[in-house]
Amino acid sequence: MDFALNAEHELIQEAAHKFGQSVVVPTVKELDRTHTSDPTTLKKMGEAGLLGVCLPQKHGGMGADYIALGIVCEELERADSTARVVMSVHTGLHSMTLMQWGTAEQQARWLPTLATGAAIGAFGLTEPNAGSDVMGMTTTAERVGDHYVLNGQKTWISLADYADRFLVVAKLAGGDAKARHAAFVVERSAPGFSSRAIKGKLGVRAGNTGEIFFDNLKVPVTDRIGEEGDGFKVAMSALDHGRYTVAAGAVGLIQACLDASLTYAKDRKVQGDPIANKQLVQQMIASMVQGREIGRLLYQKVGWMKNSGQRHTKEVSMAKWVNCAAAFDAANKAVEIHGAYGYCDEFPVERYMRNARGAMIYEGTHEIHTLVQAEYELGYRTDKPLAKTLPTWPFEP
Ligand code: CAA
Repeated sequence: MDFALNAEHELIQEAAHKFGQSVVVPTVKELDRTHTSDPTTLKKMGEAGLLGVCLPQKHGGMGADYIALGIVCEELERADSTARVVMSVHTGLHSMTLMQWGTAEQQARWLPTLATGAAIGAFGLTEPNAGSDVMGMTTTAERVGDHYVLNGQKTWISLADYADRFLVVAKLAGGDAKARHAAFVVERSAPGFSSRAIKGKLGVRAGNTGEIFFDNLKVPVTDRIGEEGDGFKVAMSALDHGRYTVAAGAVGLIQACLDASLTYAKDRKVQGDPIANKQLVQQMIASMVQGREIGRLLYQKVGWMKNSGQRHTKEVSMAKWVNCAAAFDAANKAVEIHGAYGYCDEFPVERYMRNARGAMIYEGTHEIHTLVQAEYELGYRTDKPLAKTLPTWPFEP
């Protein structure tokens, strides 16, 4: 077992850190305050090579391993949760799912533009009445000749107003119980597509989130991902990748809480003594450090499992569940350390707390992951090896 980062990881960490601190941090406070998303951030990430970090070089990516992706997510979320959210959606939920499920032709067609950010990818699963209950979706896909006709609506879609393509899952019209769902890549430019932003979010205010609508939208059969009946599995494996990026990002958020809290606690004096010297403050700092260290071990284990092609649905659920709860706890403690200053946006910690709360809901609620972990332990849930896995690392040339 080797816990050290290699030279490539360190270079990628440095690049992602520089990107986060120089491109993301300077504008985030104002974007968050005004609920404005900046679509150029993703393009800049693409130019910096961050969107293709774990995509094979033959598809225009950097060809680094999946741990490198986690490191990028950590550094992006240390700068701002929204920056990591768009990475999770574009690379985790969209590009990596195409790496796992797409045909060679589909990968050659789509991955190069996704690796550079020339095209932006997103994911459409949740519906107004189907969140945790994925199977409850009502969006339909009906096969008509050489295409499918999609009708329905998806909600809580990151990048709804900006993405060029959406990986969506729909219920097959007339499908039997075994072949009920299929996944498709839907182009924004397709007639019958529309989107609408969701306003008034508690957190991730610098990110675009919305609804997308399909009105007799035609998708060529060649843009179906997997076979008819694979839709649920495609969705769940997308979440295996998305949850990994969320778990890694949560560690970055804990680090951001520490960055802010250490500075504040050393500066702020009570009766001439920095509050950093108070044991109750130190207790909160130690608790954040605990969350960061446990969280990093949990997500990097998943990165290692991804590298070697092992199924990791249980482990990634654990990492997402534990790390997001630890990040929210760290942000709450960071607010506590800042006292009244933590309650306004002069300091970043109130934003960290609002953003951390969202991660306990998206990509599987805290309750879903709690139940899933109990079911594994009770033997009610077991994972079989998957027929289709991500390419193992190192990638084939
Ligand atoms: N990869 C591939 N296949 C998988 C899989 C995976 N990760 N997980 C399950 N499957 C397969 C299973 O092997 C099984 O196949 P067989 O029938 O051939 O054995 C089939 O799918 C059904 O699996 P389960 O029995 O595990 O399914 P379930 O009904 O018990 O799952 C659940 C229940 C775990 C609660 C699941 O519905 C779930 O995770 N819900 C939460 C959904 C969620 O996270 N939504 C977030 C939306 S996206 C988002 O938040 C992003 C955003 O907005 C930005």
